[in-house]
Amino acid sequence: MAKLVINNESKKSTIAPEIYGHFSEHLGRCIYEGLYVGENSDIPNVNGMRTDVVDALKEMKIPVLRWPGGCFADEYHWMDGIGPKEKRKKMINTHWGGVVEDNSFGTHEFFELCKQLGCKTYVNMNVGSGTVREMSEWVEYITFNGVSPMADLRKANGHEEPWTLDYVGVGNENWGCGGNMRPQYYADEYRRYQTYVRGYAGAAPIQKICCGANSGDYDWTRKVLETCFDHSEPHQHGFMDGLSLHYYTLPETEDDWNFKGSATDFTEEVFYQTLKRGMYMEELVTRHGAIMDQFDPDKKIGMMVDEWGIWTDVEPGTNPGFLYQQNTMRDALVAGNTLNIFNKHSDRVKMANIAQLINVLQSVMLTEGAKMIKTPTYAVFHMYAAHQGAELLSSELLEAGSVGSGKNELAKVYESVSENSDGVITITLTNNSLESSEDVEIRLTKDGSSYDVCEAAVVTGKMNAHNTFEAPDVVKEEAFTAYSKNADGIKVTLPACSVVSVRLKK
Ligand code: AHR
Repeated sequence: MAKLVINNESKKSTIAPEIYGHFSEHLGRCIYEGLYVGENSDIPNVNGMRTDVVDALKEMKIPVLRWPGGCFADEYHWMDGIGPKEKRKKMINTHWGGVVEDNSFGTHEFFELCKQLGCKTYVNMNVGSGTVREMSEWVEYITFNGVSPMADLRKANGHEEPWTLDYVGVGNENWGCGGNMRPQYYADEYRRYQTYVRGYAGAAPIQKICCGANSGDYDWTRKVLETCFDHSEPHQHGFMDGLSLHYYTLPETEDDWNFKGSATDFTEEVFYQTLKRGMYMEELVTRHGAIMDQFDPDKKIGMMVDEWGIWTDVEPGTNPGFLYQQNTMRDALVAGNTLNIFNKHSDRVKMANIAQLINVLQSVMLTEGAKMIKTPTYAVFHMYAAHQGAELLSSELLEAGSVGSGKNELAKVYESVSENSDGVITITLTNNSLESSEDVEIRLTKDGSSYDVCEAAVVTGKMNAHNTFEAPDVVKEEAFTAYSKNADGIKVTLPACSVVSVRLKK
């Protein structure tokens, strides 16, 4: 039996709600069809936003949404997406599927969506093919409350009040699709562009996010910080508030993006390989974090993992440029493990955005016309929502053993634990084994016997179990009852291939 020892006498760091953030790009059916159907659609909507999707995202407590890309961001010219819809420019989305982008979803629609969701706003600016002026005018259009050319234009387009812009991304993947820049060059560009992200009087502070590394490119992190880190004392908040990191889990081949493997049809070996590759996030966060520590020991800059998740081959017969993939229990485990990693590193990781919200890559929902289904990944985000804003507690798992073999060996059980302001302790655990359940004895260092389980949920199934439009509830969050209290603590039995959340209250 495994033992989980939780030190509930000291709190480590606050788990930023934004760790549970999402990403929506003008890609495939993410924005159009997935989120936005237009006011005249037969699909129930409010101001064009799908009601079923908005309701489900609110229930999942979506904290922040990143938009408009991705690679699309560095080709996006925001003025194409404002004003009367019939006059907006139509263009080809060259990056994603070569389809017509009619710009009917633009700035006003994004802020309307976030208002309906009640979430923070993260807009990724165009550095690759845009200009400083274009970016700076977009910030003025969104946030300035006064008389100015851009504020007047916003008002003329029907929005009197400015919006709250919480985060700005200064470019996306500028080492690749965002301009193929070298770190030194991008770093200088960052210094210049960020200067013109103005904080207007009365507007909420905007957090500026610098483009960080691709996966294990530690050289990028070091070089960008060498040029961009502001050494003035006291640290000038607002020069750089976050540094991004992107990492995708490819199930089959590590580097060949033409053969990533099927989303639903895979072997047990590939299952463990995928989980192991997902766990690589722990090394990335630790090593990039160590470099950040050299410049920023007080951890004032957040690591923003603003793209992560499983990337598989597209569903057979679908447009390869649309990145539409199914979502199984394997995805649920990658999500559960990764979110546990982020919680454990919440002293440094201040935001993360799974790619992507709907109908693209590792989505929490899929749509087909008027139908919508929730994926196993949705269940995990819903079960983990209680960690948002809670304090991380240190925890240690003993004697749980490992699964997989050789280079694919990984911990059988992986956890994170937090306590919220009401004193409720949330424990989230994965059982990464396909073969066996695991008994876990939970012990708290203080007042253990006075705690009882107040809420518990599980998502479990075969490794490739997934929901379809014909069978939408094959994998779903269910009540978890496999626990008992004894003299030493609380014993839970985690089913094979499962993600479990257990909440304890005095
Ligand atoms: O999420 C899909 C793409 O992956 C994004 O557009 C890009 O930033 C990344 O390479």
